[in-house]
Amino acid sequence: MKKIIIAIDGYSSCGKSTLAKSLASHLGYTYIDSGAMYRAVTLFLLEHSIKVEDQDRVQTALKDINIRFADNNHTLLNGRDVESEIRQMSVSNYVSEVAAVPEVRRAMVSQQQQMGEERGIVMDGRDIGTVVFPKAELKIFLTADPEIRARRRYDELAQKGQEATLEAVKANLTHRDHIDSTREDSPLRQAADAVIIDNTLLNREEQLDRAIFLARQAGA
Ligand code: DC
Repeated sequence: MKKIIIAIDGYSSCGKSTLAKSLASHLGYTYIDSGAMYRAVTLFLLEHSIKVEDQDRVQTALKDINIRFADNNHTLLNGRDVESEIRQMSVSNYVSEVAAVPEVRRAMVSQQQQMGEERGIVMDGRDIGTVVFPKAELKIFLTADPEIRARRRYDELAQKGQEATLEAVKANLTHRDHIDSTREDSPLRQAADAVIIDNTLLNREEQLDRAIFLARQAGA
């Protein structure tokens, strides 16, 4: 079996990581959550009171940031497990501004490309099929109805005991979708050769079945 690269892109909270994780596990591939990397950078900037406008400090900060993933997929920021912190609303509310900074993108894209050197990966994000791996053998563009996305995110946060109102979650998704798809540097868009999966009416198994079929077709 050939090891391929699978890119999954789409708007916020449409289930990319759930699908990517189960697809990777099914294929015996490595799962990489590129959004977690932008979230880790955001957490670092917030903790050091660095604003995105302060380009010099952002540049310096990038040199001090080391992001890795533990075996359980938890995100490590300079060796510290920040998996739960990077999912908090304080980070969600600022991450799109941070991810729009070209220097931040350059640093993350280069690390993501290195992580893909050995192939056999499923990476999810916004620009994976367009910028990070434009030659990925399989590109999936995941979409879902915005109301459903907000409800899913709200339920997810509630389950983790993180407080947020449905209205706040909706506002955050709309805000991030807007910034992510209108920024100048590598905006979220569907790659010309991506396959669309609209999962509004699909359960997890149905999505996974479809993705496995596509992956096999692509040579995995
Ligand atoms: O997938 P996520 O919601 O955890 O991503 C957090 C933010 O990071 C998202 O609002 C946009 C940004 N992002 C990006 O710009 N490029 C990626 N490849 C992944 C995420």
